[in-house]
Amino acid sequence: MTPTESTRAFDGTLLPAGDDKTRQVRAMFDAIAPRYDLVNRIMSLGLDLRWRRAAVRSLALPGGATVLDLASGTGDFLRILRQAGLRPFGVDLSWGMLAADQAGSPRVQADAAALPVADGSVGGATCGYALRNFTDLAGALVELGRVVRPGGRIALVEVAEPRSRLLLAGYRLWFRRLVPLIGGLLSDRGAYRYLPRSTAYLPPARELRALLLDAGFSGVNIRPLSGGLSQLITATRSASGAR
Ligand SMILES: C[S@@+](CC[C@H](N)C(=O)[O-])C[C@H]1O[C@@H](n2cnc3c(N)ncnc32)[C@H](O)[C@@H]1O
Repeated sequence: MTPTESTRAFDGTLLPAGDDKTRQVRAMFDAIAPRYDLVNRIMSLGLDLRWRRAAVRSLALPGGATVLDLASGTGDFLRILRQAGLRPFGVDLSWGMLAADQAGSPRVQADAAALPVADGSVGGATCGYALRNFTDLAGALVELGRVVRPGGRIALVEVAEPRSRLLLAGYRLWFRRLVPLIGGLLSDRGAYRYLPRSTAYLPPARELRALLLDAGFSGVNIRPLSGGLSQLITATRSASGAR
């Protein structure tokens, strides 16, 4: 999908593309930043912390390694990376999210598709629940391939849908109906209605895998977390670079 191609959500809503998407996504995260952590914990029933720890373990990096947390938001991954003895820094598009981050690691405002980070300068990278928010996902993955050193690792966590029909029915009720309701009560109704719709931006696994291979990664692994409530995407930066 090109950055300007339009996408339809599960309920037929036409989702923004190109610069409109970037503008709307940034404004939305600026608006929800103050209560983002609270709503996030409720929404994931606290499971997101477990998923983030699994992602950090999967990096298997030596202590002290520099790690980029892409779209770092309010710093949840930064905190866990520090606890694991790594040296993280965050990059995010939204000033509001960066301002709400109390994790204590360095952070920079930038677009994922144009990282102000030197080639091969980080040992690994994480990214939590942001791939579908990027206007140029392919460009962001190419940037990851550029900044992660050969042999370095990435661990990306994203929303997913459970395979079990029973779990899927419950999940859809929760994610598509109750989350917008709770998010609306505690934060911004529009933003939390957009959230389940935004899953339509996520490419299918085979496409995501191809994008990662094109960006210079190998050993791409995509696995469900907690029965498919989320997914963990891991890969290693190849020595040979982008294909
Ligand atoms: C759902 S939040 C996730 C935040 C954090 N990674 C977490 O796991 O809680 C998505 C984040 O992506 C950021 N974002 C969206 N588009 C971006 C872009 N093009 N470049 C960098 N960050 C972006 C948003 O500002 C927001 O902080």
